Amino acid sequence: MADKIGIGIIGCGAVGSAVVRILLEQGRSLTARTGLDLELRHVIVQDTHKERPVDIPKDILSNDPAQPLADPDTHIILELIGGVDTPMDLILEALRCGKDVVTANKALLALRGGPIFAAAREAGRCIAFEAAVGGGIPLIESVRRGLIANEIDAVYGILNGTCNYILTRMLESEVSYSDALAEAQQLGYAEADPTLDVDGTDSAHKLAILASIAMRKTCDYDRISVRGITDLEVTDLLAGDELGYVCKLLAIAQKHDNGLDLTVHPTFIRKSHPLASVAGPFNAVSVYGHAVGHTLFYGRGAGGMPTASAVIADVMEVATGNAARTFSQLTRLADRTDAATYRPSGENETAFYLRVGLEDRPGGMARIATVLGDHGISIASLVQHEPHQASGGDAVPVVVTTRESKDSTVQAAIKAMSELDAVIGQVICIPTLDEHVESSHA
Ligand code: NDP
Ligand code: HSE
Repeated sequence: MADKIGIGIIGCGAVGSAVVRILLEQGRSLTARTGLDLELRHVIVQDTHKERPVDIPKDILSNDPAQPLADPDTHIILELIGGVDTPMDLILEALRCGKDVVTANKALLALRGGPIFAAAREAGRCIAFEAAVGGGIPLIESVRRGLIANEIDAVYGILNGTCNYILTRMLESEVSYSDALAEAQQLGYAEADPTLDVDGTDSAHKLAILASIAMRKTCDYDRISVRGITDLEVTDLLAGDELGYVCKLLAIAQKHDNGLDLTVHPTFIRKSHPLASVAGPFNAVSVYGHAVGHTLFYGRGAGGMPTASAVIADVMEVATGNAARTFSQLTRLADRTDAATYRPSGENETAFYLRVGLEDRPGGMARIATVLGDHGISIASLVQHEPHQASGGDAVPVVVTTRESKDSTVQAAIKAMSELDAVIGQVICIPTLDEHVESSHA
């Protein structure tokens, strides 16, 4: 007879309901594949009367998280509610009650990973979190175990499905930013508070977790320089397209001689770049190891079913005992590694895209060229566009690309430009990125 493993799910929204669907519909084949009988014993939600996309047996549905924690036949708790304080308390209580925990909650792990992992070790239990980064892509385990032989010098990721979906829709169909965001919410990609997606916070949460595992140092969420996509307009995406670029919200961890650089920024990459064709809700992560060279992980980074795929994989790892062994042996989680050292900010040197809104009168273009010259920034191209309908406003957009320049110098030039009478609104600045060069060992 198959071993029975009791499951308690706390949170049955986009992800939780997809996990319930797989457990109810694929239960037999999962047992056939693993010899384990996963028994769904509790589903905990806030509102038990809400309509759900899956039929949950009435006798296991409740709004009381204490029920699965008190049940001796529930072995694994799936935390799928989101947020920070409530799930933190729930997970700590679950560990104290002797349960193992699976979570998809990147915000929680990025902000409180250290104490949570420490509590799990103290309780002799484990935490599995494959779904927290890259949705359905089996990324965490691949980097942690599959690339163990490597010194990793760079990670470049498209880590937010909502932002990638919005940028794709804005460029392909010239859909407005707010309409594209509404579509992403409708499709279940966005966080309960979508600000976390579009302001770059969600990507930064994921980068803090992924970079810590890849670089084997604790990467502090607060040290990540973060900018989201909220100030981008269709004009920028079309201007970039004309110049041969695609805009992606990139999460980057890169080692330099003087420390680690952690950034989440909209970035223009050439159309030939390996990450350029990643569209819609898909995520992709390039990891560069000294032995393996470039590896690229690609898949659906958001949405109920893809994320549930990773959650169920974790449940199986916990149920088979593999997760407990890995967790106890690993010294690479936030409670056991040294803090990373960081490169001073503003040192990045690259070509930049600038969009400056100018009053439609003589001399404005000359003034911005003078400011750039005064800062020692060489202009690579300068194009004045007719105002685009979707952009709105009275300013005439002037697009400048620079030759390779230091970030801090470009920021100083932007400040000076913004003080010119002829300049209207915010100067939009997007760095460009060349493909990372593999280390010479690969
Ligand atoms: P949803 O907002 O869709 O669902 C949250 C669920 O949690 C709801 O069922 C809600 O109940 C329940 N809930 C909230 N607070 C409580 C509480 N105090 N007690 C009991 N139940 C509660 O979130 P998602 O499914 O989108 O996300 C869940 C987690 O997975 C988050 O950490 C998210 O970051 C992560 N994640 C999400 C992905 C996605 O694509 N959506 C992808 C990868 C990770 P009710 O339904 O009654 O309101
Ligand atoms: N809101 C997240 C995204 C879900 O859009 O990528 C996956 O973590």
